[in-house]
Amino acid sequence: MLLNADDFREEARRLLPRFVFDYVDGAADDGDCLRRNRSDLESLTLAPRVLRDTTVIDTSIEVFGRQWRVPFGIAPTGLNGLVQPGGDAILSAAADRAGAPFALSTASNMRLEDVRAAAPGGVQWMQLYVMHREMAQRIVQRAQKAGYQALVLTVDVPVSGNRELDARNGFKMPFRPTPKLAWDLITHPRWALRAARAGAPDFANITADGADAGSASMQAALLARAMDRSLVWETLARLRDDWKGPLLLKGLLHPHDARLAVEHGVDGLIVSNHGGRQLDASPSAISALPGVVAAVQGRMPVFMDSGIRRGTHIAKAIALGATGVFVGRPVLYGLAARGAVGVDRVLGLLAEELVRTMTLLGTPRIADLRSLIDAPLNVRQ
Ligand code: FNR
Repeated sequence: MLLNADDFREEARRLLPRFVFDYVDGAADDGDCLRRNRSDLESLTLAPRVLRDTTVIDTSIEVFGRQWRVPFGIAPTGLNGLVQPGGDAILSAAADRAGAPFALSTASNMRLEDVRAAAPGGVQWMQLYVMHREMAQRIVQRAQKAGYQALVLTVDVPVSGNRELDARNGFKMPFRPTPKLAWDLITHPRWALRAARAGAPDFANITADGADAGSASMQAALLARAMDRSLVWETLARLRDDWKGPLLLKGLLHPHDARLAVEHGVDGLIVSNHGGRQLDASPSAISALPGVVAAVQGRMPVFMDSGIRRGTHIAKAIALGATGVFVGRPVLYGLAARGAVGVDRVLGLLAEELVRTMTLLGTPRIADLRSLIDAPLNVRQ
């Protein structure tokens, strides 16, 4: 039975070729940070309030003038077409159905305009990796034109994290089958057939920029996650000028950086360690959250991702001051397990769990959860 995000993970493990599952599920080095994300969330407790009216539970929040039905969204993840062809369009439409935002990765297998068209009424944000400045500028312009409402600059990938599972599996893009990979495909025929039917676009193209002329070198840079490492705070001003909507930084953990973000006119933060896929020595995102919230002093929304698997985890993050949270792997497990239905179910489970948690906590509105921060709360910081 698929009753929670972890069940979907096991189903994804069964259905996906090993190299795809490991790419999605894996983390950097020894997976210390990945485990910390989860264990720190688990070790937190919330003391419930009793005898409060919880007849109506309202999980909605307002972010940058838009109403979200739930205080969580889909984090940007690259190469979703590997999990299922057209993955980003499926995820984006599912987020819209759930009243949740969707963030599209720079490393998407689909053109950003096509993903936008999958949920024209939805909240869609564009995530940016800066490899070449002209490419970044082009993506920013196209995202603006297509109607993406916020830009998320990911700042925790100056270089790719050390993903040893991918190396062991011989997983590289562009995809070149080795005997080991061929066996992986033969033993997962459903995935292999679907991929073969979808044909080249989902595999050959690995940027939301599409297969535009001149993007070949950029694609190569993206394969190696060869970022522009000269990108510094001062460079943000340029991006600030180019992008008219809200600008968020994703992948920030240090309170000093949060203060710098305020000074540089950033509009929102996503406290994240990339789901443990970058610096294995990073603190868990949940333990870094209170420091960032304190540094920002309410001047902008602070989101959090990395390790969220349950409605209780969402409640804990909000109780520690997060405006909302994002999930990465859980929706990919849903996509792998049951396609669009699976993504709907994973998002639905998180929403149901959150409603139950809020009812048990005696906190009918999201703002009530935030006030729990003053209640007895066992936080490891
Ligand atoms: C990611 N993440 C990510 N982040 C980003 O800004 N751009 C990207 O292209 C990707 N790609 C990516 C691929 C895959 C397969 C995963 C699992 C993650 C990180 C992602 O946005 C998010 O920070 C984490 O996934 C959150 O952790 P959980 O929810 O997966 O534990």
